[in-house]
Amino acid sequence: MTDLSIIARMAPVYAERRARLAARIKRGIAIIPTAPERARNRDSHYPYRYDSYFYYLTGFIEPESVLVVIAGDQPKSVLFCRDKDVEREIWDGFRYGPQQAREVFGFDESHPVGELDARMPDLLANQPQLCCHLGSDEPWDARVLGWLNAVRAQVRNGVAAPEAISDVRTVLDDMRLVKDAHELDVMRRAAQISTTAHKRAMRAAAPGRAEYEIEAELLHEFRHGGAQAPAYTSIVAGGANACVLHYVQNDARLNAGDLLLIDAGCELDGYASDITRTFPVNGKFSAAQRDIYQLVLAAQAAAIAEVVPGSSWNAPHDAAVRVLAQGLIGFGLCQGSVDKVIESGDYRQFYMHRTGHWLGLDVHDAGEYKRDGAWRKLEPGMVLTVEPGCYIRPGAGVPAHFANIGIRIEDDVAVTATGNEVLTLAAPKTVADIEAWMRG
Ligand code: GLY
Ligand code: MN
Ligand code: MN
Repeated sequence: MTDLSIIARMAPVYAERRARLAARIKRGIAIIPTAPERARNRDSHYPYRYDSYFYYLTGFIEPESVLVVIAGDQPKSVLFCRDKDVEREIWDGFRYGPQQAREVFGFDESHPVGELDARMPDLLANQPQLCCHLGSDEPWDARVLGWLNAVRAQVRNGVAAPEAISDVRTVLDDMRLVKDAHELDVMRRAAQISTTAHKRAMRAAAPGRAEYEIEAELLHEFRHGGAQAPAYTSIVAGGANACVLHYVQNDARLNAGDLLLIDAGCELDGYASDITRTFPVNGKFSAAQRDIYQLVLAAQAAAIAEVVPGSSWNAPHDAAVRVLAQGLIGFGLCQGSVDKVIESGDYRQFYMHRTGHWLGLDVHDAGEYKRDGAWRKLEPGMVLTVEPGCYIRPGAGVPAHFANIGIRIEDDVAVTATGNEVLTLAAPKTVADIEAWMRG
């Protein structure tokens, strides 16, 4: 069981978020359930992962929980959670129960989740607005509609049902996009564990070893560092496998003379890190590998330089594409002027994804990329990845020495008041630093 004093210290952080949600909604009621437990196969479940929105507002990680936030002149938050159950606790471990959960986590009210259906119609009665998320879980949608119908059935008693239904994620996405000091602290620690894991993997890689052996080194370091899980399935891709963007089989042997691309990051206390490093299996870049690597590194540097307050979301991508297009022309892989290669999209044969995404509780985190048709402006507290790459499949016009080179370099970058902070710098990235680290 987690140290209660730590949770009690954190409770005001979550209470402040609930208060902010209530203030943003102004009038009405928000219902945010956590994620269901999911069966993997008979009698066996996937490791439980709470819903990110629910966790953001509660810090509470037990399944079968629902948060209700009531906005208005006297905002309050109500938790529904599992009852204490001595018999189940013998099998599955500690559960708070409503009373202790309310005291420790600082809710205004709490009830057993078994009372949810009975209590929700009363909580919804006479509320002008219902903020929820519909459309991602049919049984949940049916339940919410059932409560609404139960309220509507009371209209002749003078009870009004909510007139408006809105998506609570719109407000929460916006809140989650700008990280507070607590979130940045956790993300720095997640990044630190993941950089250590990448360094361990670099040292472990050698010709003849299997990709899954290197994956095991990453997982070891994640758990050893206190992270609960990988934030996503690790990509450990040797040689040509690096040109498969979502390669996750991780079952091939590593060859001397090949590169190894590793895209892996841990999740710590709900927050993701997301790092890619690419390095030579035998510790020494070939000339062709070095050429393409330096190009991707230069593209990444140009992109990171654009991560400053006031910059457009798309500025890092545009900067990376310009550097890559120039380099691809230089290596004879694209023809014509830089502008023409960008305009025609010719570079996409070798760079077919975007340069980053928001990062936070979800690896591809919540938050709009455009607002009113225009790219969002970067603000202090936003965290994004910067991850240009170059993937050269064999084909017409591809010189043999470049064929099957796949490189991506990915860092996690927080926007600060004056520029940016690269959270993942500790993982070696220059050719010299990688080769020196691998020499040991
Ligand atoms: N690892 C997921 C991504 O880079 O987007
Ligand atoms: Mn990423
Ligand atoms: Mn990644």
